Amino acid sequence: MTTILDGKKLREKILSDLKTKIEGFNKKPSLAVILVGNNPASQIYVYNKKKTAEKIGINSNVINYPATVTEDELLEKIHELNRDENVDAILVQLPLPEHISKEKVINMISPQKDVDGFTPYNFGKLFSGEKPFVYPCTPKGILLLLDEYNIELEGKHVVIVGRSNIVGKPLFQMMLNRNATVTICHSHTKNLSDITKTADVLVSAVGENIIEEKMLKPGCIVVDVGIFKDAAGRTRGDVDFENVSKIASYISPVPGGVGPMTITSLMLNTVELFEISNKRLK
Ligand code: GUN
Repeated sequence: MTTILDGKKLREKILSDLKTKIEGFNKKPSLAVILVGNNPASQIYVYNKKKTAEKIGINSNVINYPATVTEDELLEKIHELNRDENVDAILVQLPLPEHISKEKVINMISPQKDVDGFTPYNFGKLFSGEKPFVYPCTPKGILLLLDEYNIELEGKHVVIVGRSNIVGKPLFQMMLNRNATVTICHSHTKNLSDITKTADVLVSAVGENIIEEKMLKPGCIVVDVGIFKDAAGRTRGDVDFENVSKIASYISPVPGGVGPMTITSLMLNTVELFEISNKRLK
């Protein structure tokens, strides 16, 4: 029997509790989102973030820039948001245009307002085993989803395919914190199948349809972070869901698995940063 890891259902539960919590505050938490250019996927993500925030009582301010914006203009805006007492959380939607240094932009965000947990301060805290202000949204969402289904990670072999700063790297450390044995695979990994076959938990965050049934051990837990449109315009994940779901014990669908959990984590992180900076609970 295969169980679907239902991110939509868990999202509704967490956001409903969060909405009630926010209603008890004497001030609304506030999230500023910077969106540069007109990448269609980024526009959809940002729209969904704003819509979700509004639904639960978080103020969200989306600041749009054309792709031609200069690095200095962006850095100046972040500096302004850092000083603005009415902004609790700052998110710069990635990717950024090539003429802008992602590192410089992220480094500019005040760690206390870094809702993604991407600044060197928060990343450093995470990797030194200390507590960052908040944990990166996608890995946090994955762990919330696994916890909801009481999936124990201690001693399990977790294989992560993809080494991005957004998913693979922070998830590696967060899985280590749970006492999992963790392997990261990436585009240069030789004999990928030999490694994925040893996974008790397989997490794929690549953005290509690469995970097939024959690469996995029957009974493994499969978390699909990839999301993209195929040639026919259908939304797909990294995993061949139809066949892999026949052998997996648990599997997250695309859409409806990790995606809703990432936005949920963003809302949780915004409220956590609000509570850290305000402590103005009724
Ligand atoms: N682009 C894709 N995923 C993310 C994310 O989690 N945070 C930000 N800032 N940009 C992204």
